[in-house]
Amino acid sequence: MDRLHITGGVSLEGEIRIAGAKNSALPVLAASLLTQEPLKVCNLPHLFDITTMLELLGCMGVQRIVDEKMNVQVDSSTIENLNAPYELVRTMRASILVLGPLLTRYGRAEVALPGGCAIGSRPVNQHIAALRTMGASIEVENGYIRAHADGKLKGKHIFMDLVTVTGTENVMMAATLAEGQTIIENAAREPEVIDLATCLNKMGADITGHGSDTIVVNGVDELHGCDFAVMPDRIETGTYLIAAAATRGRVKVKDTQPHTLDSVLSKLEQAGAVLRVGADWIELDMRGRRPRAVSLRTAPYPAFPTDMQAQFTALNAVAAGIGSITETVFENRFMHVHEMNRMGANIRVEGNTVMVEGVERLNGAPVMATDLRASASLIIAGLVSENETTVDRIYHIDRGYECIEEKLQSLGARISRIPVR
Ligand code: EPU
Repeated sequence: MDRLHITGGVSLEGEIRIAGAKNSALPVLAASLLTQEPLKVCNLPHLFDITTMLELLGCMGVQRIVDEKMNVQVDSSTIENLNAPYELVRTMRASILVLGPLLTRYGRAEVALPGGCAIGSRPVNQHIAALRTMGASIEVENGYIRAHADGKLKGKHIFMDLVTVTGTENVMMAATLAEGQTIIENAAREPEVIDLATCLNKMGADITGHGSDTIVVNGVDELHGCDFAVMPDRIETGTYLIAAAATRGRVKVKDTQPHTLDSVLSKLEQAGAVLRVGADWIELDMRGRRPRAVSLRTAPYPAFPTDMQAQFTALNAVAAGIGSITETVFENRFMHVHEMNRMGANIRVEGNTVMVEGVERLNGAPVMATDLRASASLIIAGLVSENETTVDRIYHIDRGYECIEEKLQSLGARISRIPVR
């Protein structure tokens, strides 16, 4: 298990390019199961989670061809089995995204039930309930979701009890080949849901309303292949901007979509950042100043994203003043706090809120990453620390940030990977 070694104290300066969005690429790859024809997916980020999804498709017999530009052509005409085994699902919960496509296209699927994880219990009851409403018989036994449908799934009016991103995506994919019209109420409005709907429509689906909380899908007989480039990663974008703000630096992120980051950019401005925004770039300049503490509350899009909460906690840890951060999406997403306190931060957990009283500087320490975004926040904490920090268990970061140490090095950070055998 590799570690990252960081010598803090450098203000980040420079430009980087943002990769394709992990949370868009994963459902788009799963959508390849909806057609006999090859789907070519471009702008895929080089991440462990993407490799895991490709491995999952591969173990079903789906062919994957990677070209010299790292675009992947996925061809499910060779599919041999309809199972997502536990070994892969436990390493990546997003494997659940194959359930809707397999069920609607083949009338059968067997997917290991994802367990809880470091950020919460994360049940998939909404996915299952909606697919049952559409006529599927689903049993959960021996740790597996076993689903089948007699004939086509039926389009229905579905009310999601809560806003779920992958739940909305699973049901939307299932509805593309269902009989009649499906209306998904209380749908997730995340940009990644819009990206998936755009890809499905390019494949011949009939989806409207994506981006609102009511998505309407008229079932079609079949989908076909296409070329699709996934959107830029808004969470990667935000993470580098927060790192720049925390280190009092100046960074330009390119090949991104600024409109997907409104809530985050507004918090960065409150923290004292000077922002310039173009069609596909954002420049943040702290002009060497210490950030001001900000308060925020996570909630589904377009509100502030839970995936950026830990990084803002790191920013507040060295900001002037006291900021409160309330997490409303996951029940256990404060694991980074205890590690930051070991680095000299002054953070108190009160239920689902953390109160962060900024200190002038953190002190480097050996710390341990517990999940993907917590890892990113500990790296930011390391960058603003005096002396040395090592971040252990960085396989979490490789799941979701492409070449993070190279990108940070190009911004001047003193960071390196230490292979540990
Ligand atoms: N929930 C249920 N039942 C369900 C589904 C969800 O109770 O059937 C609950 C969850 O436990 C959670 C809340 O609803 O408390 C929202 O969960 P959601 O289903 O929206 O999360 P997800 O689809 O599993 C995606 C992202 C996450 C991101 C969340 C929230 C992907 C592959 N993952 O997860 O990304 O945090 O939406 O925006 O799209 C990450 O990239 O680090 C990450 C965790």
